[in-house]
Amino acid sequence: MLLQAENLRSGYGEMEILHGVSMTLDQGEMVVLIGPNGAGKSTLIKTIFGLLRPTEGRVRFRDTDITGYHPRDLVIMGLGYVPQTNNTFPTLSVLENLEMGAITRRISPLPLHWNRGSDQRRTQSRMMKDAEIRERAMETVEMFPNLQPKLREHAGSLSGGEQQMVALAKSMMLDPEVLLIDEPSAGLAPKLVDTVFSKIVEINESGTGIVMVEQNAKKALAIADRGYVLETGRNRFAGTGEWLLHNADVGRLYLGGQA
Ligand SMILES: Nc1ncnc2c1ncn2[C@@H]1O[C@H](COP(=O)(O)OP(=O)(O)OP(=O)(O)O)[C@@H](O)[C@H]1O
Ligand SMILES: [Mg+2]
Repeated sequence: MLLQAENLRSGYGEMEILHGVSMTLDQGEMVVLIGPNGAGKSTLIKTIFGLLRPTEGRVRFRDTDITGYHPRDLVIMGLGYVPQTNNTFPTLSVLENLEMGAITRRISPLPLHWNRGSDQRRTQSRMMKDAEIRERAMETVEMFPNLQPKLREHAGSLSGGEQQMVALAKSMMLDPEVLLIDEPSAGLAPKLVDTVFSKIVEINESGTGIVMVEQNAKKALAIADRGYVLETGRNRFAGTGEWLLHNADVGRLYLGGQA
């Protein structure tokens, strides 16, 4: 198992949103999370990525219990996250956005707190110089040929679909083993949804495990290995993409009545 969330209770301040949610991701898989607005899908992703600390339950990545780890350390370990909103730096160029995707490994003139003690050698061996980061950005953009001619443009000046590609490209800079993606198709026209989804399939086929939240549930289930339906902070249904797509209850309740 690559990633496992087990019985997570989590929320904001006193307000518990997840009341014991579990999910797993195996090597090479794409798993989608669906469910109504407010079900807790983003909260689950944020809890896995260490942006929220669960009051109960564990998160495991490979053999490591990563519950409560800082997102920066998770990125270094091979976890990536594309947030639902504000996932690019609009006033930076496309190239600079990509470079930001490697910022956690940039050699810094100031000692960072995690670059000390027994971890120092391991961490430093994975640090990158600016020139290497630039090189990696040029490599990464090869996966996103549409961005090639726009490298010097401000990310904020690009179309919604292109900005989503920038966010994905940025998250691929460190070649993550697992990518958590929150609603990549939000606000995109149907044709662009397909473009973004095929890029995500390509990323998955290149060896990155994917956990993706989606409102576009049918299209997402059609490309997923497995899926989870969340409702009011609880697991409601789980199964293969195919099974969920053809389950009458799931269809009626969560897929607009057309199973
Ligand atoms: N920062 C926050 N502070 C307080 N409550 C929040 C915060 N973010 C989300 N919530 C609440 O947590 C609940 C679950 O939100 P969450 O964003 O996880 O839902 P979701 O399943 O991702 O929904 P959507 O499909 O609308 O993105 C909602 O009731 C929401 O109002
Ligand atoms: Mg959400």
